[in-house]
Amino acid sequence: MFLFSPTFILLTLATILLNSSASQALPPDFAGPIPNVTTAVSRDAVLECFVENLGMYKVAWIKMNTQTLLTIDMNVITRDPRIKVSNNNIRQWFLHIKKVKEEDRGYYMCQINTEPMISITGYLDVMVPPTIIEDGTSSDTIADEMSKVSLRCQATGYPTPKIFWRREDQKDISVVSYTGRRFSVSKVEGEYLNISQITREEMGAYLCIATNGIPPSVSKRIMLEVNFRPKIRVPNQLVGATVGSQVILKCNVQAWPRPLTSWVRHKGVIIINSNMYHLIEENDSYNTYMSLKIKHVSEADFGSYKCVARNSFGEKEGFIRLYEEILSTPKPYMLRSTFMAPIPFPKELHNDDNDSTLSPRLHYGHPTSNSLMDDYKDLRAEHTRLEDAQKNQDGRTEERSLHRSNSNNTSCATRFHLPGSTVQWLCFIVNTVLVQLCC
Ligand SMILES: *[C@@H]1O[C@H](CO)[C@@H](O)[C@H](O)[C@H]1NC(C)=O
Ligand SMILES: *[C@@H]1O[C@H](CO)[C@@H](O)[C@H](O)[C@H]1NC(C)=O
Ligand SMILES: *[C@@H]1O[C@H](CO)[C@@H](O)[C@H](O)[C@H]1NC(C)=O
Ligand SMILES: *[C@@H]1O[C@H](CO)[C@@H](O)[C@H](O)[C@H]1NC(C)=O
Ligand SMILES: *[C@@H]1O[C@H](CO)[C@@H](O)[C@H](O)[C@H]1NC(C)=O
Ligand SMILES: *[C@@H]1O[C@H](CO)[C@@H](O)[C@H](O)[C@H]1NC(C)=O
Repeated sequence: MFLFSPTFILLTLATILLNSSASQALPPDFAGPIPNVTTAVSRDAVLECFVENLGMYKVAWIKMNTQTLLTIDMNVITRDPRIKVSNNNIRQWFLHIKKVKEEDRGYYMCQINTEPMISITGYLDVMVPPTIIEDGTSSDTIADEMSKVSLRCQATGYPTPKIFWRREDQKDISVVSYTGRRFSVSKVEGEYLNISQITREEMGAYLCIATNGIPPSVSKRIMLEVNFRPKIRVPNQLVGATVGSQVILKCNVQAWPRPLTSWVRHKGVIIINSNMYHLIEENDSYNTYMSLKIKHVSEADFGSYKCVARNSFGEKEGFIRLYEEILSTPKPYMLRSTFMAPIPFPKELHNDDNDSTLSPRLHYGHPTSNSLMDDYKDLRAEHTRLEDAQKNQDGRTEERSLHRSNSNNTSCATRFHLPGSTVQWLCFIVNTVLVQLCC
């Protein structure tokens, strides 16, 4: 039988021998591709190479773009101290790169020194957060109103950063479309921020922001100033005040560069801070808010005032008239008592430091009266009459003779012009019962 013939046994043996010698001689190979690695700059990266049947052969790592031999077997060849090599059971070979730099980006080769050599490559991608290039980016800019402004911003980074613009105060940016139509947007994308016919509203801080998904994003603040001649708005051109009161005159100026401002009285007399005047100036962007506080209005203060604002582009004036105000419609108020006030009283008694207390000189009323009630009625009647007179616009003299009570402590006797003898006890009553009425 052929089956048991010596020839068959020989053949079988030969086959077994051949197979075993073939399996021992299997050449090295790679078990898979090198997985790509992506890392951010200054982090660490590890590339992995899977090898089978390495046998007596060696694994080397090579940086492709520079043709640099990095490692052979367990030896680091390059001088770069950031490079290390390690393996796991001779099958997994690791190339370690510490604190990755941008120039580390590229293909890496894992090579086995067979004849001919075999290799595979993998890619290390290095992400770089954005950086603004100062040289290619606008600095603070000054433009004349209605001119064209072009701001530029450049940034590096990997991937290439996107650049967009927005206003620091979150206001919209006015841009012109290709069709010439103007519209407002909260942000503008691109290297340039072009504004044609810039207006004062567009003055402010702009941020150019560069972002590429790798934190941190960066921004640059660019201050855009828009020059224009002063413009003044006077909120109140006619201001009424009573003698002794405090009054504030106001002018709102728009101007850039920030204007020099002044308050001027008639004949060009410039008002300065003093015990009579307090000049206040507040500003907000191109707005300047001018205030002139007259601490105690006197007769001499009535009249015209001028606020002036000047910058290198022009000068503007605003006018205010301060007139004497006669308060003739005081609001009555109720007390626990039956008395109803207010009682107007003559101007002459206002700021008297002399002894008018006991001998008040009045323009009205009955000097002989000695009844509080009578006086009150008289005053009330006079007051009503004056109110009517004022309504008819022809009670000028009476109006001027009356004046609002200031809040200061004028004696009761003055208010009620009583004979001296009764003053003290009446005052006591009045002070206690009608404190709010007269004092
Ligand atoms: C690895 O990265 C390179 C370069 O970006 C790319 O061409 C290749 O397809 C990537 N391979 C894998 C497996 O993702
Ligand atoms: C903006 O202005 C610059 C310089 O004036 C110009 O080069 C650029 O093309 C303009 N960009 C746009 C979008 O209008
Ligand atoms: C007003 O402007 C001056 C500089 O001219 C500045 O020092 C000041 O802080 C500004 N005030 C306000 C409230 O903006
Ligand atoms: C009372 O004061 C007024 C004004 O304060 C003054 O004009 C007048 O001369 C004074 N009279 C006396 C008697 O001091
Ligand atoms: C009241 O009198 C005091 C002291 O005499 C003075 O400082 C104050 O300004 C006066 N108040 C008014 C409203 O006239
Ligand atoms: C008002 O004047 C009276 C008398 O001169 C005095 O006793 C009282 O304290 C004064 N009150 C105030 C609030 O000044």
